Amino acid sequence: MPFLGLDLGTTGVRALLIDATGAVLGAATAEHPLHSPEPGWMEQDPQDWWTSTCGAIRDVLSRTGVRPGDIAAIAASGQMHGATLLDAHGDVVRPCILWNDQRSAPQCDEITRLVGTPRLLELTGNVPLAGFTAPKLLWVREHEPERWARTAHVLLPRDYLNWRLTGALASEPSDAAGTLLFDVHARRWSSDMLAALELDPGLMPAVLPSAGIVGRISRRAAKDTGLLEGTPVMSGGADNACAAAGSGVLQPGQVLCSVGTSGTVVAPVGLTVGNPGHNVHLFCHVSPRTNYLMGVVLSAGGALRWFRDTCCPDLVLAARSAGTDAYTAIMTEAATAPVGAEGLIFLPYLTGERTPHGTAAARGVFFGLSPRHTRGHMARAVIEGVSFALGQSLDLLRRAGVEHNTVRLTGGGAKSPLWQQVLADVFNCPVAIQPADEGPAYGAGLLAAVGAGSFVSIEEAGERIQLSGEIAPRDSAVAIYGKTAEVFANLYSALEPMFNARLALEQ
Ligand code: XUL
Repeated sequence: MPFLGLDLGTTGVRALLIDATGAVLGAATAEHPLHSPEPGWMEQDPQDWWTSTCGAIRDVLSRTGVRPGDIAAIAASGQMHGATLLDAHGDVVRPCILWNDQRSAPQCDEITRLVGTPRLLELTGNVPLAGFTAPKLLWVREHEPERWARTAHVLLPRDYLNWRLTGALASEPSDAAGTLLFDVHARRWSSDMLAALELDPGLMPAVLPSAGIVGRISRRAAKDTGLLEGTPVMSGGADNACAAAGSGVLQPGQVLCSVGTSGTVVAPVGLTVGNPGHNVHLFCHVSPRTNYLMGVVLSAGGALRWFRDTCCPDLVLAARSAGTDAYTAIMTEAATAPVGAEGLIFLPYLTGERTPHGTAAARGVFFGLSPRHTRGHMARAVIEGVSFALGQSLDLLRRAGVEHNTVRLTGGGAKSPLWQQVLADVFNCPVAIQPADEGPAYGAGLLAAVGAGSFVSIEEAGERIQLSGEIAPRDSAVAIYGKTAEVFANLYSALEPMFNARLALEQ
């Protein structure tokens, strides 16, 4: 019996079919646009998500020949935090404000002033960051009162997808945890947080378990997607939690580094673990038995994508006519530069900085350019800069008590052997590669299978995931990266006051 896993990502929707043992039957992706109407703003039209979802589902069905009536269950993962507002008729009130949108930094300050850091940690396990949902709601209330007055339902992107699939308004713990309105330890909306921010609890949907049924494919959704009306849909979960589940990272002692549009380092922890340092996030896992600590780099693969589109149009054109991938050519150029890119350092803060500083105003920097530097050096610096930022997240997790022997890798960026080696060298620990790395859509597919009873638990499903080998750190590179990472960190500190001053120049 096949299961369908969906991932509503920032660049597109992926639809993946697996069988009852977890083997992949086929996958398809459909892209959707990303809009930045103002500097620092990132938005998407939920209707575009639906269009790409329908396209990806139809495509995977035709590629695999799987009959819709044979699909036993469906579940979706999704980009976290996006404020998706619906009115009482179910119409979208405004474009979704995404996880990497930085407009709500002032509202974060206001929340801290209203609630105070100790109480925020007690109620939600986290402190406010512009990426989270609650400050976005306050921004809409303040700047778009008419739209706010029409808002009847606050959903996350994956909640919205489930609503389009089934007609049910519901959320689930791993996604709800990213709102700053959810009690991560009790796994329910925090009535104290909602009251402190004067938000009507009626705006928030019911919270259902990740592998629990949220509804069934509606007649309308069946017509749009080609799926069979009545097919059960499980809640699914946040993309980072689903990526971790899909990589078998479900227990304390395991660590996942994901290099997608964003980059994350995820470490499952016991349910009672807190977040006293509050420089990483503490969110619920898709397993009811664990939470996880996470550091986030907002532009990871996204930074390389920017570099590709802005600095490598010739490679994009050549790849297009040869039917190959421009990233392969960029990696080949990057490999011509030595470890450390001869002192060229890249700060990957194109859409702001999340972990460790939470500086919405930060932006990208190439530092140390000289006439010796080529585009290859710049490409290498981008990969290394993202890796240093991910290394800072891993260090914070280690300081929070996370113990681990390896780091599993997932995501598009982590498919490059060069980037895999850079991560092993920067982390100074072996990185493990998965032969069939299918990311969050795979974790969602496993949740569908758990919900339908093919596995006893998500842990049982995760135990079957095979690793194809480890890449060890190289001593010489570890030494160079140790020194370069120090300059990388100092560079941020030196520039921090300038980031705010620069913000004024955007106006
Ligand atoms: C996590 C985060 C991103 C998005 C990307 O906190 O903001 O990883 O989930 O899809």
